[in-house]
Amino acid sequence: MSNRTPEPNRTPESKRVYETAFAADPERYENAAFRRAGSSGLDLPAFSFGLWQKFGADYAYETQREIILHAFDLGITHFDNADRYGPPHRAAQQNFGRVLARDLAPYRDEILLSTKAGNPIGPSPYLKGSSRKSLLTSLDHSLRDLGTDYVDIFYSHRQDDSVPLEETVGALVSAVQQGKALYVGISNYRPDRAHQAAELLRDAGVPLLVHQPRYSIYDRTIENNGLLEVAEQDGFGLVVYSPLAQGLLTDKYLESIPDGARATASTFLSPDQITETYRQRTAELNKLAESRGQSLAQLALQWVLRKPEVTSALIGASSVWQLDHNVAALDFAPLTDAELALIEEHGVHGTGLNL
Ligand SMILES: NC(=O)c1ccc[n+]([C@@H]2O[C@H](COP(=O)([O-])OP(=O)(O)OC[C@H]3O[C@@H](n4cnc5c(N)ncnc54)[C@H](OP(=O)(O)O)[C@@H]3O)[C@@H](O)[C@H]2O)c1
Repeated sequence: MSNRTPEPNRTPESKRVYETAFAADPERYENAAFRRAGSSGLDLPAFSFGLWQKFGADYAYETQREIILHAFDLGITHFDNADRYGPPHRAAQQNFGRVLARDLAPYRDEILLSTKAGNPIGPSPYLKGSSRKSLLTSLDHSLRDLGTDYVDIFYSHRQDDSVPLEETVGALVSAVQQGKALYVGISNYRPDRAHQAAELLRDAGVPLLVHQPRYSIYDRTIENNGLLEVAEQDGFGLVVYSPLAQGLLTDKYLESIPDGARATASTFLSPDQITETYRQRTAELNKLAESRGQSLAQLALQWVLRKPEVTSALIGASSVWQLDHNVAALDFAPLTDAELALIEEHGVHGTGLNL
């Protein structure tokens, strides 16, 4: 039997009510794990929290607020955002800004805020791409939406080969020089371009802190394309996103597709990705997790964090139950060689992902 509490029961024992003024749990750092980002001096939490899905205008603000505050209470100090997150674009940052103003402002010094720019958010040539104009105007807009003077990490959201890398990197450097960002990152860059960006940034005196790629048992790209080696060599950390493959690496889709789950509610995960092959492989991984007394979600998170190049697993959650459950992943014994071999057998690259 798995130790999994059925997800529909979304009331964790630790649930706190945030109806009045928020006061953070004084014990929030007692069990929180932090990991150093590459060769920088900055520690990131082992789990970072992202606001990509279910933090737009189409979900209840009070639920969003409860999840964000609960994450902070669990020692999650890093919140990942982007101009694009919504819907509509920018809504997730505006919602986070409301929580920051109302509840988290006294804790701003204890929080790492990330934002990204460069993915399209409108038809204008200045609302897409990685030109200096697009990146720096997006950053100014994000600062207004978040209600903060600076972000901790400003990312180029994607590799844009139509813009000289020197221009994109120059915009990141300017953001730091103008005091609008403390550190810089890149996301979805191929290893060769990541290396070039790291060199340009080093020359400019603004070292690349982190790269944000996708990584999970079902997406092995960074194990095979050389990014892990480049990260080690250039001294940047990896903040890996979608470590649960958007929920595919949990037991939620093994029998059916629950109402309201991401596969029913997002353009980024569709029911046709839940195939019989997906279910067979996931059932085998789930059995392995059960034999360890944990859930598949917990096993999948432990698995990405086994790599020293991975600084932080960037998770999403649609309930406080999921957060509590997932953060408990670090309470289990490390995966053995025999268990890792079984994960290799059933964790086939591309499963469920339409790659
Ligand atoms: N740089 C980029 O291009 C990029 C791209 C994508 C994401 N990101 C970042 O990465 C963050 C995380 O991405 P992600 O949300 O795809 O991560 P994920 O952790 O792989 O998936 C999270 C989703 O899985 C489901 N889930 C989580 N725990 C569960 C559990 N224990 N049992 C059952 N279902 C569970 C929830 O969805 P439901 O409950 O709704 O089903 C949750 O929202 C984003 O918010 C964003 O900050 C960056």
